[in-house]
Amino acid sequence: MKNERIVIFDTTLRDGEQCPGASMNLREKLEVARQLARLKVDVIEAGFPITSEGDFAAVQTIAREIKGPVIAGLARCVPADIDRAAAAVKPAGKRARIHVFLATSKIHREFKLNKAQSEIIRLSVEGVKRARSYVRDVEFSPEDGSRTEPEFLVQVCQAVVAAGATTVNIPDTVGWAIPDQFGALIKQLHDAVPEFRSGKAVISVHCHDDLGLAVANSLAAVRAGARQIECTVNGIGERAGNASLEELVMALRTRGDWFRGFQCGVNPREIVRSSRLVSRMSGLAVQRNKAIVGENAFAHSSGIHQDGILKKRETYEIMDPQDVGWGTTELPLTKHSGRAAVAARLRQLGFRMSDAEVQAIFTRFKEIGDKKKFVYDDDLTALAEDRITEVPETWSLDYLHVTSGSRTVPTATIQLRTAGRGKAVETVQDASIGDGPVDAVLKAIDRLTRTKGKLLDYALRAVSQGMDALGEVTTKVDFGDGQVVTGRGASTDVIEASARSYLNAVNRYLGSNAKCSSGNPQP
Ligand code: KIV
Ligand code: ZN
Repeated sequence: MKNERIVIFDTTLRDGEQCPGASMNLREKLEVARQLARLKVDVIEAGFPITSEGDFAAVQTIAREIKGPVIAGLARCVPADIDRAAAAVKPAGKRARIHVFLATSKIHREFKLNKAQSEIIRLSVEGVKRARSYVRDVEFSPEDGSRTEPEFLVQVCQAVVAAGATTVNIPDTVGWAIPDQFGALIKQLHDAVPEFRSGKAVISVHCHDDLGLAVANSLAAVRAGARQIECTVNGIGERAGNASLEELVMALRTRGDWFRGFQCGVNPREIVRSSRLVSRMSGLAVQRNKAIVGENAFAHSSGIHQDGILKKRETYEIMDPQDVGWGTTELPLTKHSGRAAVAARLRQLGFRMSDAEVQAIFTRFKEIGDKKKFVYDDDLTALAEDRITEVPETWSLDYLHVTSGSRTVPTATIQLRTAGRGKAVETVQDASIGDGPVDAVLKAIDRLTRTKGKLLDYALRAVSQGMDALGEVTTKVDFGDGQVVTGRGASTDVIEASARSYLNAVNRYLGSNAKCSSGNPQP
């Protein structure tokens, strides 16, 4: 039996981060990249360096810090983009990849680029050659490839491979493709370009989920000759998102009978942890019924199913939940656990924290341990992620007092502290009424911080089990300039978690370096 390796190219930090409101700061991106390395993806597309200083810094830092996967930076077929991407990925040395793209479809050529086919080929070849002058590993993407005339697409592939591209990625940019048809297109390219058949160059696919077919299209492409799949954790990405990494990996593994001989190097036991981290860092909740990583993915409610599972698990379960990282928690910690135990558990959970960070987490751990009997791994993870998502605090919460009930006007009294900024620490206090306790709290914070946020989304979830579970609040806030800022906060008290989350959004907004997500240009 042939044994063919499928390269898993993760673009959570580039295409995934293009999702509105999903932007992450440098620390958050680095943490996700560390987890992607533990997940053992082959390639991490860390960003689009020309778009902002923040994106450049993120790609460069990830290229310097992360060992194992290839680190890719995206660039248009424009010299300045390519030079910037080259500088950003340079610290990865031999593991550096430059990914250049240019649209090839008729509609993009005529309406977006106003360029003839010959011009597109010339620019693509020049882009690949320039990238090759920096690195050996060059990927080219004909944007909107699935809607490009197949004969022209063949010419583009031949030209860029001859110019030195080692991977040619066929994007289904607008999620238009249908599995049979997309598979046939990939086969046509595979048959037409000798380097794809000899393995000198790799065909990749990059599918969007506008028709809910991204994973199906990617799998059809694998059977037709593709050997790299581009995907994101939780399927996050532009519009309806990208092909979901966890679904692809588990489809290849679970249906090895069908995808005979195809293997990827991803460690499936890291899937749930990766999903949770990306969800928290991006502020994008995972729907309960999401395959593999949703809360309900392995929950059986019907009596017939439960009965079958008890008799033989495989009657209704095609995968073992533990194989993807569900239910592998250790004994919970308690308020009696010491700093060393907390530090050890943080390390075990995969967090790399400085002593000061461990101390800050330990202080909150003690506060929570006083209120709750057991502190579970999920609680500790929420505290650690709270710390990671913290931005330099212009304002921090000192105390909060709320009165609320069915026959009183909800009122919040809040004291905030201005933290640092080279000035003496100052405390300010104010009170506000609101439609409910959360509304009163947010209004009081607005008054004290002199900001005016419009709450676009508010989500509360229990981090762990039990009535005393930590509540984690994610807020999406528009501060008036159209920029959506995501805030997060966790506490055993959901009102306090709301205040922490909103304050986190305020601090992100106020901190000039808080956002390092890409601005223009976007692919
Ligand atoms: O969807 C797309 O076409 C892209 C390319 C830049 C690969 O993201
Ligand atoms: Zn894309």
